[in-house]
Amino acid sequence: MDRKRFAIRTYGCQMNVHDSEKVSSLLEQAGLDPAASEAEADLLVINTCSIRDKAEHQLYSDLGKLREWKAERPGRIVGVGGCVAQQVGDRLLGRFSQLDFVYGTHNLRRVPALLEGAFEGRRAAWVGEDPSPSRFDLPMQRTRSTEGQGPRRKAFVTVMEGCDMYCSFCIVPSTRGREISRAATEIEAEVRALVEAGVVEITLLGQTVNAYGRHDVRRGHAAAAGTMPFAELLARLDAIPGLERIRYTSPHPLFYDEALIRAHGELEHLCPHVHLPVQSGSNRILESMRRRYTRERYLEIVEGLRRARPDVAITSDLIVGFPGETEADFGDTLALVQEAALVDSFSFKYSPRPGTRAAEMGDEVSPEVAQERLTRLQRLQGGQTLRYHQSRVGGRTLVLIDGASRRGGDQLSGRDLHNRVVNLDPEAGPDLRIGARVPVRIVDATPHSLLAEALASHP
Ligand code: 5AD
Repeated sequence: MDRKRFAIRTYGCQMNVHDSEKVSSLLEQAGLDPAASEAEADLLVINTCSIRDKAEHQLYSDLGKLREWKAERPGRIVGVGGCVAQQVGDRLLGRFSQLDFVYGTHNLRRVPALLEGAFEGRRAAWVGEDPSPSRFDLPMQRTRSTEGQGPRRKAFVTVMEGCDMYCSFCIVPSTRGREISRAATEIEAEVRALVEAGVVEITLLGQTVNAYGRHDVRRGHAAAAGTMPFAELLARLDAIPGLERIRYTSPHPLFYDEALIRAHGELEHLCPHVHLPVQSGSNRILESMRRRYTRERYLEIVEGLRRARPDVAITSDLIVGFPGETEADFGDTLALVQEAALVDSFSFKYSPRPGTRAAEMGDEVSPEVAQERLTRLQRLQGGQTLRYHQSRVGGRTLVLIDGASRRGGDQLSGRDLHNRVVNLDPEAGPDLRIGARVPVRIVDATPHSLLAEALASHP
């Protein structure tokens, strides 16, 4: 019999992208092959997001369309995982007869068994919490690039999962569960194995990644749990020979201590980019969001990072239209974007999530006002991003080439150390290919990317 083929649709954050990679490894280990497209797949997994209402609704719209996909070939299987799966659980099976199995955010390892059951006609959901660090024990991730051109150069590595912060707007504590950190020796072993296989850039992942180990350290259990302060973990990874770039996402401002700020000036491979979500520039709103810092503290961290690493690029997440947000509060957000000199930001209209504190607050901002604020914020950020890009013209940087440019043509595209998108002309150098690290000079700036010329080429 032909081997079964699977496809995965992923929504949401980088943690979800990485969870899909983990499920992929598990399915391959179970004897399935990745399908070239969903049209060829026997199994489709949807890895869902529930951070905002729109993301959650994507699942229901997808499931509607999948009735037809299933009917085209009898025996096809549909599975759903991720944050909506975790929250809605087996009620999804009740509501959608075209759905075969559901797995929660702690239960990736159950996917092969759920699939086997589904092939035998049993529909099931597995969404229990698993507070044990053994849930990090998964097969080694794939080390070939998905383009099939040589080894992978970039990989995600989970260091912690879950969130105990309970920001009043956020659903994550109820979809990802309690904070749990992985032993440093395991993280280090995974990074070493990846580097051995050709990876040069890792992004450390966690819902509040720089809270790594904090519960263990505070309770005096760090030795037993094998964890340590985040800055120490970074220093250990920085010493791994062959590793060129270290990133981490997403940190919380509350967990920046002196050591972590200093690390940005001291660790050779830690990239000069920090994505540091601020959410609002108004102290009143920050308090009501339960962010546990002030705009002053946020700016102090930014200043500290700049002192440690003058060229550091700071990006952020912002929410507009949080309950009770006045024009003056919003003005504080606009001012903070400027004061922090954010290089870029993702901004969102507040979306009430059932079960969160903020959803009970009342005092809503009208959708029209929220939209108008979002537009103004994005216009301000757009100008600031473009000016930052322009300031880089004439400068040099190092690009890791990811693939073809989104701008089309035969341009190649990659990221520089500051995580900016850099496009370059493949004619410009002899060995320009995916995975190469290329020293370049920036020759032009656009609102969303930099254009560069190769100076020489590297392996
Ligand atoms: N509404 C709008 N945006 C939200 N985010 C998280 N929860 C909500 C919500 N309820 C945004 C935050 C966070 C990013 C991942 O999503 O800015 O940093």
